[in-house]
Amino acid sequence: MIEARELDKVYTRGVYALRGLQLTVERGEFVFLTGPSGSGKSTFLRLLVRDEVPTSGRLVVDGRDLAALSRAEVQAYRRSVGFVFQDFKLIPRRTVLENVTVVLRALGQPPSVQRRRALAVLQGVGLQHRLDAFPLELSGGEQQRVAIARALVNDPVLVLADEPTGNLDADLARDVIQLFREMNARGTTVVVATHDRGLIARVGHRAITLAHGRASDEAGGLPR
Ligand SMILES: Nc1ncnc2c1ncn2[C@@H]1O[C@H](COP(=O)(O)OP(=O)(O)OP(=O)(O)O)[C@@H](O)[C@H]1O
Ligand SMILES: [Mg+2]
Repeated sequence: MIEARELDKVYTRGVYALRGLQLTVERGEFVFLTGPSGSGKSTFLRLLVRDEVPTSGRLVVDGRDLAALSRAEVQAYRRSVGFVFQDFKLIPRRTVLENVTVVLRALGQPPSVQRRRALAVLQGVGLQHRLDAFPLELSGGEQQRVAIARALVNDPVLVLADEPTGNLDADLARDVIQLFREMNARGTTVVVATHDRGLIARVGHRAITLAHGRASDEAGGLPR
C-alpha cells in the first residue's frame, strides 16, 4: 500500500526531516510510527497526504507515485485518504456536524446520507450529542475526536493519524484505537504516529521507529 524508497525531505536551512527513508506498509496493515520529537513522523505523514512532495526519492501509495499526480489527481487522492492532523485543523465557523460532513458535501452526497454517515462516526467517538457545537466550544479531546470522525466518515482506503490520542485520557484513547481497529478489520490500511510507547505495547501492532528521518522496524509489544 505504501512504498518509500530513498526518501529525503530537506527543509530550508538544510534541515533533513527525512533522510534515505525506506519502508513498506502492506495493504490492510495497522502500523504505528514512533520515534522522538523531531524524528520526522509528521513530515512523513504530510508527504503521504500529498501536502508536500519529497526532495528526492520515491513515495508510492496504492500504485501511484505521489510526486507525479496532476492537480485533479491530488484532489481525488486526498479524498480517498482519511487524515487526522496533529493540530486537528477543524473549520472554526462550522459546527461539529458540518466539519464532519465537509468531504461528503464536496463529493455531492445527498444531505440525508451525509447526516446518517456523520452521525454513525460521531457516535463512534462519543460526540453524537454535540452536533451543533462549534470547535471552540469543545475541549481539546473533543476537538480531536471530531477530527477523527471527519477522517473516518468517507470510508477511506488509507487512514493516517498524527498523534490522534495526544489529548485523550486512557479510556478515550482506547475507544479511538478501537475505532481504527474496526476500520482496519474492514480492510482499511491504518498508520498512526504516536510517542506513546505504552499505547503501542497495549495494542500490539507493528511499530516503525523513526530516528533522524530513518526507519527501523520492530514487532508490536503483544501478539494481535
Ligand atoms: N516546515 C518546516 N520548515 C523547516 N523545518 C521543519 C518544518 N517542518 C518540520 N521541520 C523540521 O523537520 C524535523 C522533523 O519534524 P517533524 O514535525 O516531522 O517531527 P515529528 O517526529 O513529527 O515530531 P513531534 O513528535 O514533535 O511531532 C524537525 O527537525 C523539524 O524542526
Ligand atoms: Mg509530529
